[in-house]
Amino acid sequence: MSIATPTSNVSKESEEAIFSRGLEGIVAGETAICSIEQGGLFYRGYEIHDLAKNATFEEVAFVLLEGHKPSAAELARFKGELVAERALPPSVIAFLRETGPALKAGTAVPMDVCRTAIGILGHIDVDCQDNTAAANLRKSKRLLARCPAIIGHMQSVIDGRELIEPATGGDPKLSHAANLLYLMTGKKPSAQFEHCVDVSLILYAEHDFNASTFACRVIAGTLSDMHGAVCGGIAALKGPLHGGANEAAMEMLKRIDKHVQGGGTVEGYMQRAFETKEKLMGFGHRVYKNGDHRAPILGALGREIAKGQGPESLKWFEMGDRVQKIMLDQKKIHPNVDFPCGMTYFVMGIPVPQYTPIFVASRLSGWCSHIMEQHANNRIIRPLSRYIGEPTRSWNS
Ligand code: CMC
Repeated sequence: MSIATPTSNVSKESEEAIFSRGLEGIVAGETAICSIEQGGLFYRGYEIHDLAKNATFEEVAFVLLEGHKPSAAELARFKGELVAERALPPSVIAFLRETGPALKAGTAVPMDVCRTAIGILGHIDVDCQDNTAAANLRKSKRLLARCPAIIGHMQSVIDGRELIEPATGGDPKLSHAANLLYLMTGKKPSAQFEHCVDVSLILYAEHDFNASTFACRVIAGTLSDMHGAVCGGIAALKGPLHGGANEAAMEMLKRIDKHVQGGGTVEGYMQRAFETKEKLMGFGHRVYKNGDHRAPILGALGREIAKGQGPESLKWFEMGDRVQKIMLDQKKIHPNVDFPCGMTYFVMGIPVPQYTPIFVASRLSGWCSHIMEQHANNRIIRPLSRYIGEPTRSWNS
């Protein structure tokens, strides 16, 4: 019997198949949820500027999850469902309290705590193992409703404060965005802050086959459950090349500021970054080559807040402008949405490690829509790889 060598055996098929590093340019599936084009970003056919100007996050989440623009009655019903599901069960509250020391020590970070809290929610969700469309929709709403309380209560634990309204998960009169800020700070936000976070949630809600959504679809494609798929999505979003870039972008601006305070210049920092091939966080995109449609929308709102606050806040946007100009002039690379997001959340006083969890509070709507779409028309996602290892060898020789 002849033993096939891995190089001739495995590579034969994969050599004939298309290979693209990082799956760049590969169409890996079909979706009716979102389309990204150089000319625009569309959620179920609605363009992102239109949504940011005219819709609320709750309306956008409805469009994504239920597939059409809600009537007034449907929207009222949807908002009521979310409000009714906001409170966290005692086991998750106990977990958040217990995690305080690890969060303070830095061995746990908010994205990890958020992921585990959602894992626990799965253990006690009566629909957890049911992948039918109706059960998936119920779970989507519960996850979306509860994520602000996970973030808000976690922040109270970090700040050493009493949890805000744990019995109800917030104030039923507040929107998803306003309630999120209220749970994090204990204060009802101004209309300007509410609007700014609401728009950021709209911009973050969905982005077709990005890494975290693709991870969710790969997990759902094995017919695994929604909570498990969302945990995988959170793990993927955490990375600084993906959602973690909003935190990383602000940390980078703080480093640039320190460099300037120490007598350096923005230009000097950038030059050194280019020489050492440091990635500038909040810049570049796999799909957008002429700029991210979401970035100017959020940047304008953040700048308005900074202008109202004065020079100490505005300096971040002025520094950001210089960084952007140098990147564009020298590298032809545009900022993505995470760059203005970092500065915007910073001038709003939101703690940096909660930026990516806030992204989760929004992207859950996109992830859950994709998990439902995958379950509704499933084929396991199982690509090939190209073998580049050792040829066949004998264990005993
Ligand atoms: N800083 C410096 N150089 C960059 C950057 C950057 N942020 N982004 C791309 N480049 C360079 C890169 O080094 C490469 O140069 P060369 O051809 O000389 O090697 C060229 O541009 C092409 O880049 P790439 O690495 O092939 O691009 P990619 O499609 O593989 O990666 C990316 C896309 C978003 C991971 C990357 O641009 C990056 O790491 N950006 C920084 C992290 C970031 O902001 N991520 C957020 C992404 S968008 C929103 C989200 O998902 O949350």
